[in-house]
Amino acid sequence: MAKTTWKASALLAPVPPVLISCADGERDNLITVAWTGTLNSDPPKTYISIRRERYSYDLIEKSREFVINLPSAHIIRSIDFCGVRSGRDVDKFEVCSLTRERASQVGCPMVAESPVSIECRVTDVLPLGSHDMFLADIVAVNVDERYIDEKGKFHIEKCALAAYAHGQYFALGKKIGSFGYSVRKKQKK
Ligand SMILES: Cc1cc2nc3c(=O)[nH]c(=O)nc-3n(C[C@H](O)[C@H](O)[C@H](O)COP(=O)(O)O)c2cc1C
Repeated sequence: MAKTTWKASALLAPVPPVLISCADGERDNLITVAWTGTLNSDPPKTYISIRRERYSYDLIEKSREFVINLPSAHIIRSIDFCGVRSGRDVDKFEVCSLTRERASQVGCPMVAESPVSIECRVTDVLPLGSHDMFLADIVAVNVDERYIDEKGKFHIEKCALAAYAHGQYFALGKKIGSFGYSVRKKQKK
């Protein structure tokens, strides 16, 4: 099997097409971002990379806060819309019929229809080229109670999370393992 070598590009996949909510005290907005990820576990740190020309850029730069709303297949059409229309022209909450929900630690709203909303406070802004990276502390995590059972276990598999790969959206499929399962001893029946 041979691989064709292409010039360098950002083809890491899949990535989550997250819905970022942001506000500056006067205006709020939604922007879809795929350039995001976890940077550190303790303290929990994350990042989003945003082009300077985005309407959302100024809001986040001013407030130094944002919320990462995880993508579910139920709202993937809205997620795409928020990635191709600007808050300069439309109120994306209104057009997409998404519900603003008050966050616990930051001033910008969360998206009620997203199963998990992660509140973030910016610590650094790194200009990288096409995008600036907003490095942030995670200050609170909000999980839809519908996915938490009576024992407090979070059933993430029920959230219908979506992924983005090479320009296309996918619904996550069936579970094929769990952390460390390859070395775990099989339980005797
Ligand atoms: C799936 C997807 C992923 C995107 N990822 C990013 C990203 O990581 N960074 C970025 O600056 N723009 C990204 N965009 C583009 C912005 O979401 C888009 O330009 C949006 O209209 C900007 O909104 P705003 O002007 O209201 O801020 C993405 C768009 C889509 C559809």
